Amino acid sequence: MKKTELMAKQILVTGGTGYIGSHTVVELQNQGFEVVIVDNLSNSQIEVLDNIEKITGIRPAFEQFDLAERDKTDGFFQKYSNVEAIIHFAAYKAVGESVDKPLEYYRNNLVSLMNLLESMKKYDVKHMVFSSSCTVYGQPETLPVTEQTPRQEAESPYGNTKAICEDIMRDFCKANEALNCIALRYFNPIGAHESTLIGELPVGVPNNLVPFITQTAAGLRKELSIFGDDYDTPDGTAIRDYINVVDLAKAHVVAIDRLLNDKTKQNYEYFNVGTGDGYSVMQLVKSFIKVTGVELNYKVVGRRTGDIEKIWADTSYGNAELGWKAEKTLDETLLSAWKWEKNVRGLS
Ligand code: NAD
Ligand code: WQD
Repeated sequence: MKKTELMAKQILVTGGTGYIGSHTVVELQNQGFEVVIVDNLSNSQIEVLDNIEKITGIRPAFEQFDLAERDKTDGFFQKYSNVEAIIHFAAYKAVGESVDKPLEYYRNNLVSLMNLLESMKKYDVKHMVFSSSCTVYGQPETLPVTEQTPRQEAESPYGNTKAICEDIMRDFCKANEALNCIALRYFNPIGAHESTLIGELPVGVPNNLVPFITQTAAGLRKELSIFGDDYDTPDGTAIRDYINVVDLAKAHVVAIDRLLNDKTKQNYEYFNVGTGDGYSVMQLVKSFIKVTGVELNYKVVGRRTGDIEKIWADTSYGNAELGWKAEKTLDETLLSAWKWEKNVRGLS
């Protein structure tokens, strides 16, 4: 990618103060893109903008509103007429909460996407990258999963919003040949920026494994519960494909380049974004202890409802088409998560 090609392209990053969004804004700005963030701060803090500025030397433009509100979304596109592409991260993402509050999840995640798609047509914005998830595969029958692996019925309303959003985009692109959308199916994003200025900051008790580990190591939680050691895996604990968040952020820059420079093969495409390697919960815990040298209290408990046994990505199609590959090791990624946690908690 030539830097000059990328100057003056304005990219709308929805959910840009969130975990993956903030890392992506940094990578976009490092590549010379001009960014405008829209976020309603329902799951992130405004101070993230200061930290993006500290890392990149540039403060992105920022607008705070709810993308599920049609008139506000309209107002945004009237004000920002230079937006050429959208990266749409903004969504609710807590699987358990979505079971208790399905309508909130459907409204937020589906209506936001539909408002943006309508705006693309109305304001002539041709390109979108959408945050999908490996959750659309459920428990696949064969591993690793390729993009051709059939999707399965979602385990949760959250997961269902991702499948429905993919379908909405597919259908909308079919009806509108001038539009181009790419859905990226993330596997399990973990880790933090090497500066330790941005990272994952879950509200309340973390649901995800790595933030729970780092909070336990930092003394905020008494002990990590490992959910199940009776799975059909080498050590009995569940297997996932953990992708470094900076690697994941870079995949978005590559996807934007593909869209803006007309490299797409169809006007709706989707790619797995993982490392291609599966690690068990126990392997991850042991790696964390090894690379950080910290004590970690843990015990094995029963399986967590709704969890799948094992999944990891076949990344060959995405690697070949996008010219992108995850680079960071699990060890360095876990270390980055720990450095971030220590920084947030003021630990040395
Ligand atoms: P996050 O919660 O940190 O970021 C999402 C951001 O969107 C937040 O800052 C939130 O305030 C904002 N937001 C939510 N609804 C909004 C609305 N209606 N209007 C404006 N802003 C809104 O989440 P994340 O981990 O960075 O995830 C980003 C995207 O990636 C989400 O779509 C998520 O579903 C998807 N995803 C995440 C993971 C993961 O494990 N983190 C895995 C697969 C897919
Ligand atoms: C990983 C492994 C747990 C916490 C979720 C969403 C999915 C996607 C990514 C957005 C599992 C085990 C966890 C703990 C544990 N998000 N674990 N003790 O479940 O793969 O996926 O995030 O799209 O949709 O469902 O990620 O980090 O919660 O769990 O033993 O305290 O760690 O059982 O095997 P998961 P996770």
